[in-house]
Amino acid sequence: MATINLPRIIRIGGGALAELPEAMAQCGLKRPFVVTDGFLVQSGMVAQLVAVLEAAGLTAQVFAETVPDPTVAVVEQALESLRWSGSDCVIGFGGGSPIDTAKAIAALALDPRPIPVMKAPAMTDVPGLPVIAVPTTAGTGSEATRFTIVTDEASQEKMLCAGLAFLPTIAIVDFELTMGKPARLTADTGIDSLTHAIEAYVSRRANAFSDAMALSAMKLIAPNIRTACAAPDNRAAREAMMVGAHHAGIAFSNASVALVHGMSRPIGAFFHVPHGLSNAMLLPAVTAFSAPSALGRYADCARAMGVAHQDEGDQAAVARLLEELAALNADLSVPTPRSHGISAAQWDELVPEMARQAVASGSPANNPRVAALDEIEALYGEVFG
Ligand SMILES: [Fe+2]
Repeated sequence: MATINLPRIIRIGGGALAELPEAMAQCGLKRPFVVTDGFLVQSGMVAQLVAVLEAAGLTAQVFAETVPDPTVAVVEQALESLRWSGSDCVIGFGGGSPIDTAKAIAALALDPRPIPVMKAPAMTDVPGLPVIAVPTTAGTGSEATRFTIVTDEASQEKMLCAGLAFLPTIAIVDFELTMGKPARLTADTGIDSLTHAIEAYVSRRANAFSDAMALSAMKLIAPNIRTACAAPDNRAAREAMMVGAHHAGIAFSNASVALVHGMSRPIGAFFHVPHGLSNAMLLPAVTAFSAPSALGRYADCARAMGVAHQDEGDQAAVARLLEELAALNADLSVPTPRSHGISAAQWDELVPEMARQAVASGSPANNPRVAALDEIEALYGEVFG
């Protein structure tokens, strides 16, 4: 038995942004509250969004103060603005952080309560205001997921919050919004989406629907990620990455992520490493650790990514997967925590707390090989570099 949840409307393709007002009209939405960040204001992209809305007679309120890894304080500030705005929906416009902020305030808008109340394993299913997600990076897949992440600055914990209240009603998936984005951002967000696809496929909660989406994502992302980084204006590569990231988001929203994400969030929380980058630091070692427990599944990943032949045995295919993940990190200049500038002493001191937070998030329990606390600590030691 599997339960599948998806956005009510997904508009996908180059130029899909222009169809946002029509999709809003299909849902009876008229007064949007836009959540975005300063960079997207500066780059003129927010003006582009507002112009699309205004051309359809829609006036938007804009909150542009979101920060990377949104904190409780920023979410509360955005919520306060939303309450005064009289808006009937929330548009998350940007990368994962604006979309996650939009989801959190939409869920709280009609029923204000402390944000940590929504932390996993709590489930927030009853909808608040409808969420509209318009991603400008090919990465988080947040436009298709029933998750949001808010950082509790008091405990330095990235709180995973789950439930249908966070699943966007409308997703606009327009790869043209990602054109020209810098290589580092493209690499980090691209590896995040590849990690979503692999983790959804090997997850203990995988099902036939999530498998199809995960395999599709791997087929799209793996052959295009290097091109999208090296040639930021390559439309075909950008489109493949955007659709791949979206399919990966659908996959993990319906199958969950696993050990890589569980271990990645604390690295982001304590050391402010971008989310995709901390995934990339972990992916090769965690895959090597997990593969013996799901050899056939990881071999399928290698074949979908195009790094192993269809007729190659599982053991050989998994070896090629591990080679490819190492090569990808090298080609995309992914640092180790040490070469990223993290002090060994601080890392070692925080490893037990990071391992505790990883397990508490619940994600590692979906891993094909469930790691004991000391094994997670050992993996943190192994990847430090
Ligand atoms: Fe992720």
